[in-house]
Amino acid sequence: MSFQLKEFQQRRAKLLANMGEGIAIIPTAPELIRNRDSHYPYRFDSYFYYLTGFKEPEALLVLLAGKENRSILFCRDKDMEREIWDGFRYGAEAAKAEFGFDEAYSFNQLDEMLPKLLGNQSKLFYSLGADAGWDARVTGWLNQVKAQTRTGISAPDEMVNVRKLVDEMRLYKSAYEIDVMRRSASIAAAAHLRAMQKVRAGKMEYEIEAEFLHEFYRKGAQAPAYTSIVAGGANACTLHYNANNCELKNGDLLLIDAGCELDGYASDITRTFPVNGKFSAAQKDVYELVLAAQAAAIAQVSSQNHWNAPHEAALDVLAQGFIDLKLCKGSLDAVLETGDYKQFYMHRTGHWLGLDVHDAGEYKDTRSKENQGNWRKLEAGMMLTVEPGCYIRPADNVPEHFWNIGIRIEDDALVTANGCEIITKDAPKTVAEIESIMAQ
Ligand code: GLY
Ligand code: MN
Ligand code: MN
Repeated sequence: MSFQLKEFQQRRAKLLANMGEGIAIIPTAPELIRNRDSHYPYRFDSYFYYLTGFKEPEALLVLLAGKENRSILFCRDKDMEREIWDGFRYGAEAAKAEFGFDEAYSFNQLDEMLPKLLGNQSKLFYSLGADAGWDARVTGWLNQVKAQTRTGISAPDEMVNVRKLVDEMRLYKSAYEIDVMRRSASIAAAAHLRAMQKVRAGKMEYEIEAEFLHEFYRKGAQAPAYTSIVAGGANACTLHYNANNCELKNGDLLLIDAGCELDGYASDITRTFPVNGKFSAAQKDVYELVLAAQAAAIAQVSSQNHWNAPHEAALDVLAQGFIDLKLCKGSLDAVLETGDYKQFYMHRTGHWLGLDVHDAGEYKDTRSKENQGNWRKLEAGMMLTVEPGCYIRPADNVPEHFWNIGIRIEDDALVTANGCEIITKDAPKTVAEIESIMAQ
């Protein structure tokens, strides 16, 4: 077993210790049909992958915690006929050896073995509601155990959300995960730089999206981490725009929110820059405001602070800026209190980042009674995005020179002992850097 796979084994050991006693059932994601006999590119379930490192579909992890801990994989059989068509599959025997499970069996043995494994277990650790198909199957197995109560076999009488335990683990990135995430971030940063070099008025948004895919795949990323947003001009004011089918116009800004997935881990970067390489006065005013808000937020990303401190810092800067630019009226306190700033900034300033782009983990503390409901403290090893923005749709209360300016600046930050490390820093973002790159 490789050094890296040992880490997955250690995660199972940790979850088993956290379970105390009982059985966990954690299936991976299903293959999804796109049309007729074509599938979407397969993506494993993040929880299953986090605990196994195993990427094949049709697999399920069982953990048995108690006096003796055991981890059991169910996976596809070796099948030479299928492997000729679809490629290599481990099969139970090789998977057990390679990934360090205590036992491994065929996926076809699930219905026979799970009712036996569930018998006499006190607690079931499972994520109810995540997948209706698995819910039905697990319920069926439980009912088979319950049907045997007269023979003295008991069914678990407590169900615990297993994801909640794993979420807590996923929040703290290991040295290995940080290394992968730095590489994911640097591929995405290079793609943003490439986009700045390729953009010209008259090109289509999808041509720039193609530059991202080119850079992601050429550097070994397996997929975009989410559908890229390539939004010229007014399209940038649609937060989840991803039609990416309009022409880029001289004088417009281009907002690109794009990141890749490398070995399961997402990067998430947004840059906004002028199609013609030079910010107009109004564009520059708003851009510098968002950049200042981001700097203020980044300065708050530290293990001294709680989750919401960066958002609060960004809001203070943005709201004051909206007042200075005559987008909002009144005092800073009034604009924050009434929420008038939401006309131009309606989302939050970040999210956890990891295997999922909007990664697992609570934002408020749910671990102890006294902290219940408080924003959780940032701690070294946590990874989050910092992404303030400003989106100005045409409106009677808005000076016309600001209409259709949409700007977001997003970086990925690793919380360190005394601050943070911006792992996406290679993507240019000051006005001077952007204008100089685009002038070349
Ligand atoms: N790209 C998704 C987000 O920024 O949250
Ligand atoms: Mn984001
Ligand atoms: Mn993003």
